[in-house]
Amino acid sequence: MNDSILLTGIGWMATPCPPSDRHALYQVNFLDADSILLESGKITWIGKYADFKGAPVSKRIDLEGRGVTPGLIDFHAHPVFASTREDEFELRTRGASYAEIAQAGGGILNSVKKLRNTEEAQLIASSLPYLQAAMIHGTTTMEAKSGYGLSPDAEVKMLEVIRELDLQQPVDLIPTFLGAHEFPPEYREDHEGYINLLVNEMIPMVAARNLAAACDIFCETGVFSVEEARRVLTAAKENGLQTKVHADQLTPLGGAKLAAELGSLSADHIEFITDEGVDALAESGTVAGLLPVAAHFLRMTQDPPVRTMIEKGVVCALATDFNPGSAMSPNMQMALHLGVIRFRITAEEALWMATAGSARALGLVDRGWIGEGAKADLVVWNAKSLKQLPYYFGVNLAHQVYINGQLVVEDNRITV
Ligand code: NIG
Ligand code: FE
Repeated sequence: MNDSILLTGIGWMATPCPPSDRHALYQVNFLDADSILLESGKITWIGKYADFKGAPVSKRIDLEGRGVTPGLIDFHAHPVFASTREDEFELRTRGASYAEIAQAGGGILNSVKKLRNTEEAQLIASSLPYLQAAMIHGTTTMEAKSGYGLSPDAEVKMLEVIRELDLQQPVDLIPTFLGAHEFPPEYREDHEGYINLLVNEMIPMVAARNLAAACDIFCETGVFSVEEARRVLTAAKENGLQTKVHADQLTPLGGAKLAAELGSLSADHIEFITDEGVDALAESGTVAGLLPVAAHFLRMTQDPPVRTMIEKGVVCALATDFNPGSAMSPNMQMALHLGVIRFRITAEEALWMATAGSARALGLVDRGWIGEGAKADLVVWNAKSLKQLPYYFGVNLAHQVYINGQLVVEDNRITV
């Protein structure tokens, strides 16, 4: 990590402004520079190679005209699970809805049953390739939610697996406690009992053991009501956790409004957000978490009012929502592509949302932008322009990935 790498021959370099500049919402700058110096995990110099006067570097890499952006930040993902759910996927292609499958005991509870019976080592082994796939496609920071345990032991097991995975590979994992993903089978008839368990036992334990940075909840008709979510997230805040909400995904229940009221980091999905919800996000600064990969996978016919939100100054972010039930892709390039297709946003807006917006949705200020002092997380693209990033799909445009100033991926191969 103390090695210095000088990247030269950069054809174009696009980045949001540093987060301190709040007027720069959705603005992407093209830097007038062809070189960038990575030292001790940070970006320490940007400029023209002809002007470089620094100390001799450990390595110089000529990028031969390729493009550079900040590393992609996947702020919403469920990358730890015990088994895939292709049978449900097929049922859905034959017409069953996500909600119908869940009501029949499939969906999240299917994953819960399997995860409870799977050892930590097995969970680590099965999740690692997904993180590698994410990284090969340009993800440098990824959220990792629990939420397939739904008991104190199984949720801790998941969060410990996430901690171990964070150590075993380069992508920076940000853990989120999602014990309120569903009501577990043993509390199916006793919702109050599970809420009490969450509020009095699980949240304080997760916070005390520093196992998560934030607490999330699935606030949806038939799952956690707005009132229940308010109780759970208030307890999370009291225990020092940040909050976020799976909100207004299938019905306009009011989750986004609640997220704004509580000062949550983000309200995610929000296909059914109300006008009031949009105004509440604009006012509070809570990020609108856009998950077009899940929308595509579930054949959603309604999209969030993204253009209206942009016009009203809502901070939007893009993520994969990678999970075995509703978004079986850890590839942030798919989020860029589908975001542009579904929401009619520009390539610049999509990049901004997948870097600066995503960083904001995780409460991180040291990344999501290129500038001196930023974390040296970068993607080098086999693309002639930024516009090409969302234009291609189903091919990997990432030539190299740098995390903490280290080359971790080159041409689809992991180099560490
Ligand atoms: O973000 N909506 C709820 N949770 C996940 C799906 C989890 C699953 O189906 O396993 C989501 O889409
Ligand atoms: Fe999700």
